[in-house]
Amino acid sequence: MRLNTGQETFDMIKIGALVSGGGTNLQAIMDAIDKGGINAEVAAVVSSKEGAYALERAKSRGIENTVIRKKNFKTAEEYELALAEYFKERDIDLIVLAGFMVILGTTFVNQFENRIINIHPALIPSFCGEGFYGLHVHEAALKAGVKVTGATVHFVTAECDAGPIILQKAVDVMDNDTPETLQRRVMEQAEWVIYPKAVRLFADNKLEIADGIVKRR
Ligand code: GAR
Repeated sequence: MRLNTGQETFDMIKIGALVSGGGTNLQAIMDAIDKGGINAEVAAVVSSKEGAYALERAKSRGIENTVIRKKNFKTAEEYELALAEYFKERDIDLIVLAGFMVILGTTFVNQFENRIINIHPALIPSFCGEGFYGLHVHEAALKAGVKVTGATVHFVTAECDAGPIILQKAVDVMDNDTPETLQRRVMEQAEWVIYPKAVRLFADNKLEIADGIVKRR
């Protein structure tokens, strides 16, 4: 855990990732760390599901990983306490939601205030909130006929997809797009680009939140 001394700090931060699926965003972050320039390490990966390919990505790098399933707990609070304990025991500085399909409530979020970030596959405040996840987001964008969509990295608050926005990137929609082709373009052109950038900004202590708005220091 790094201390806020009021000065710029350059010690390496420890990232904990929450995943549910393929983990391409986790991969983009790990690749960017490998290339250098991000003062961070992915120290632990927790999946909401057995068999998520994201776990294989963690294993192949020797990163500690586990599955914590919501349905194994009596209440959402107990589940969130278990998740929080896992990350606290490992001194995690930043929690990265990378294709994580569980909505987190105050029990978890309040314990890591301004230290949880998420990638959403649309330009928030469009096509976000409960029910808008994965391919559903792109189906909704195509149904609405928007000509531009994109991705957003934001801080996580207890209100789904409503926390302070860190970075966004726009992507064109094509006439012949399917949800799958649009999802792929949004990942390639936006998600895998802005998520590592946002992690870098956080690791370099460059993000400041005032009145719900993110400013770069
Ligand atoms: C990504 O498009 C990500 O933005 C989205 O799931 C996809 C899978 O990500 N996340 C959400 O919809 C969260 N609400 P992955 O390949 O990193 O697992």
